[in-house]
Amino acid sequence: MRKQIAAANWKMNLSQNEAETLLDQLLATEHSLSANQEAIFAVPAIYIPLATQKLVGKTNVYVAAQNCHQKDNGAYTGEISASMFASVGVKHIVLGHSERREYFAESDALLAEKVNAVLAIASTPIFCCGEPLAIREAGTQNTFVEAQLKNSLFHLTAEQITKVVIAYEPIWAIGTGKTASSEQAQEIHAYIRSVFASQYGQSIANQISILYGGSVKAANAKEIFSQPDVDGGLVGGASLVATEFAAIINALK
Ligand code: PGA
Repeated sequence: MRKQIAAANWKMNLSQNEAETLLDQLLATEHSLSANQEAIFAVPAIYIPLATQKLVGKTNVYVAAQNCHQKDNGAYTGEISASMFASVGVKHIVLGHSERREYFAESDALLAEKVNAVLAIASTPIFCCGEPLAIREAGTQNTFVEAQLKNSLFHLTAEQITKVVIAYEPIWAIGTGKTASSEQAQEIHAYIRSVFASQYGQSIANQISILYGGSVKAANAKEIFSQPDVDGGLVGGASLVATEFAAIINALK
């Protein structure tokens, strides 16, 4: 059975005190994870030690990075490598978020290199894909997303692809309060799974967790997550509110 995942993406938010308060509040909420469920916290890199210490001993709870450099080490001032994250216990790394693609010019080819770097040290890439509004309005979202997946992931072996978590995030739904309907989410998630099935076979495709992202909140999580090909969510704004994120964890299948 593939994993159901609630992943928090804090982005570039919160002071250290605020981060600590949020984690404390979250630990005080009622939320539970069964064996096939995970909660992942992609926090700003500087708060990784704090989050790791707060969440120590929690089963199926992981601290993640929001990005990494494609190289292992070297003269890349200001950057952090996947192996450095692994050395402090972080084994999940978000890659290719639409904000990074847009503001930091991350290309499909660069992301292929980052995916390789993360898999090379046996960590888990949380690979983001998703179309802008103009593409959705033109009705060509399937081919747009398919190209993102092919260009950055199809060089992987079947064994490697099962280690990747996909986050489908329509850009028009990120931080806008405008969520894809659960039917829209199911439709494209099923399409994404079919893309993996045609490259790697159905049984491999069935093992890949595909998260939905874009204005997920407590009020809509249950309905979106109940779709057969939606395996949880990558959550921005609502992950900064403890009660919201606890409810999102509890909405996992
Ligand atoms: P949002 O962000 O939940 O605030 O829309 C999602 C994301 O960018 O991962």
